[in-house]
Amino acid sequence: MRKQIVAGNWKMNNTFQEADDLINELVEFINSNDIGDIGVIICPPAPYLELTSDSASESDLFVGAQNVNDHESGAYTGEISAAMLESMNIDYCIIGHSERRKYYHESNEMLSEKVNRAIESSIQPIFCCGELLPEREAGEYFDVVKAQLEESLFHLKEEDFEDVVIAYEPVWAIGTGVTATSDQAQEMHAFIRSLIKEKYNENIAENTTILYGGSCNPKNARELFANKDVDGGLIGGASLKADDFAKIIQSF
Ligand code: 13P
Repeated sequence: MRKQIVAGNWKMNNTFQEADDLINELVEFINSNDIGDIGVIICPPAPYLELTSDSASESDLFVGAQNVNDHESGAYTGEISAAMLESMNIDYCIIGHSERRKYYHESNEMLSEKVNRAIESSIQPIFCCGELLPEREAGEYFDVVKAQLEESLFHLKEEDFEDVVIAYEPVWAIGTGVTATSDQAQEMHAFIRSLIKEKYNENIAENTTILYGGSCNPKNARELFANKDVDGGLIGGASLKADDFAKIIQSF
């Protein structure tokens, strides 16, 4: 059985105090509710990783970084290495978010190196893929996502690919309030799973967690998560409010 996951990507939000309050509310929610085997991951801004990790150790929460550098170490001012994350017991790292592709010009090639650094340090990549609106409208969305996976992920050996979580985030749905329909999400998730089967095998395809991201909220999460190939969500805006995030976790 593949793992169901709800991950919160806080992006560049919250002061230290706000982060502390939010994480404490989430720990309280997790500790006082039976969430079964659902994996809950918090991806705070880097300066709050230690705080989040300390608080998460009091519950079943996992912690993820939002980014990692593609080099091992050295003169890269302002950057964070996979080895640093590993030394802080960070479990996951978002790699290839569309905001980083757009604003920081991260190419598929660079992202394949980031994936390598994460795997070498036993950090599980949450690898983001997804098409832009013009690519959807031109009917190119399958080709775009296929290239993203082939160029950044499919070089991995079977045993390393097993540690990867994929997040399908159509860029036109991120922060816009426009969610992919349940059918659009299922169609793409099934396609991604078929690519994994083709590249690796059926067992790996069936065991890979594929999350949906893009304006997922307490109102639409249940319908999205009900799809056969949608194994949870990568949540932006709605992860900043403990109540909303808790409702999403309870949407399976
Ligand atoms: P929103 O949920 O705010 O649309 O963001 C999704 C996202 O980008 C998660 O990584």
